[in-house]
Amino acid sequence: MILVTGGAGYIGSHYVRYERDRGSEVLVLDDLRLGHRAAIDDSPLLIGDLNNAAVVDLAFRTYTIESVVHFAAYTSVPESVAHPDRYYGNNVVPLIHLLDSMVRHNVRNIVFSSSCATYGDPQYIPIDEQHPQAPVSPYGESKRVCEGMLQAYGRAYGVRYASLRYFNASGAHPFAAIGESHEPETHLIPIVLQAALGKRDKVVVYGADYPTPDGSCVRDYIHVCDLAEAHALALDRLRSGVDRGEYNLGSETGSSVLEVIAACRRITGRRITVEMGPRRPGDPPQLVAASKKARTELGWRPSHPDLDEIVATAWKWETNRRY
Ligand SMILES: NC(=O)c1ccc[n+]([C@@H]2O[C@H](COP(=O)([O-])OP(=O)(O)OC[C@H]3O[C@@H](n4cnc5c(N)ncnc54)[C@H](O)[C@@H]3O)[C@@H](O)[C@H]2O)c1
Repeated sequence: MILVTGGAGYIGSHYVRYERDRGSEVLVLDDLRLGHRAAIDDSPLLIGDLNNAAVVDLAFRTYTIESVVHFAAYTSVPESVAHPDRYYGNNVVPLIHLLDSMVRHNVRNIVFSSSCATYGDPQYIPIDEQHPQAPVSPYGESKRVCEGMLQAYGRAYGVRYASLRYFNASGAHPFAAIGESHEPETHLIPIVLQAALGKRDKVVVYGADYPTPDGSCVRDYIHVCDLAEAHALALDRLRSGVDRGEYNLGSETGSSVLEVIAACRRITGRRITVEMGPRRPGDPPQLVAASKKARTELGWRPSHPDLDEIVATAWKWETNRRY
């Protein structure tokens, strides 16, 4: 059985669906502080806080856990700047408890949700795994600390791990009724689609004077189902005995904020009011992945690389939300 922490959240629920579709047994550990019961249908759920070592160990004592996929964390860069305590607390401490229980119960494999935020301001584009990791936010730093912990537990106790550095997770399952639902929502595509639905007055574009082709920030949008598949491939690689790996997960295509808004207009056919605002501190002009390593070593081929397709799946979800 695979223990999936944070499995009731956005990316975790798509991974749970992927594993269930290929016949795997999963146990979700989530306290639903940000996740949704409905996102995992009838998958087994242990409701508990990963900051509590006894709760984490209970999962290992009660169920036959074979591998761990660890999504649970806080994810907002600006919030991490305002409240670093929350981010070092909730993003680092749970991994200590998980790794300690894994060692205690002889569970070897863990796939970890890392982030392109571990790279900080890019020194070159596209960003490959050799790029120096110099995070510029407590969020990015918390993920880098976790990667360091995985390396140390790997060396000391033989834990096998894959750190998956996602770029911008986006889209929704094309036919299962699951999708992105954060409160407050901070991600661009749902914000623009909510403006298209009239749930927001406007979309603010933070910075139109960046050194990019249209002046707005460029990001790499990767479909959440493609992320889900990468976790399964990474886990299979660990099961085959490979002991470690760090992988960038992105589409290798940059899309600007204005291009995303144009795609949302194309897909929805709705009017979307846009307002130009000032730059936000800490937003690099461009973040685009080089994902060759994941493609070569994991055999990963994103199935939904096209921005319009990503937006179309997100729009279908946004217009039929269940939670
Ligand atoms: N969304 C992105 O674009 C993105 C990009 C890079 C990395 N990531 C990473 O991917 C992972 C998942 O992100 P997401 O967007 O699905 O987030 P999410 O907020 O939708 O899901 C996180 C889940 O973890 C649970 N959780 C949080 N703290 C917990 C705790 N202490 N105990 C039990 N459950 C807890 C929440 O209830 C929620 O269900 C995170 O680790 C995030 O840092 C996300």
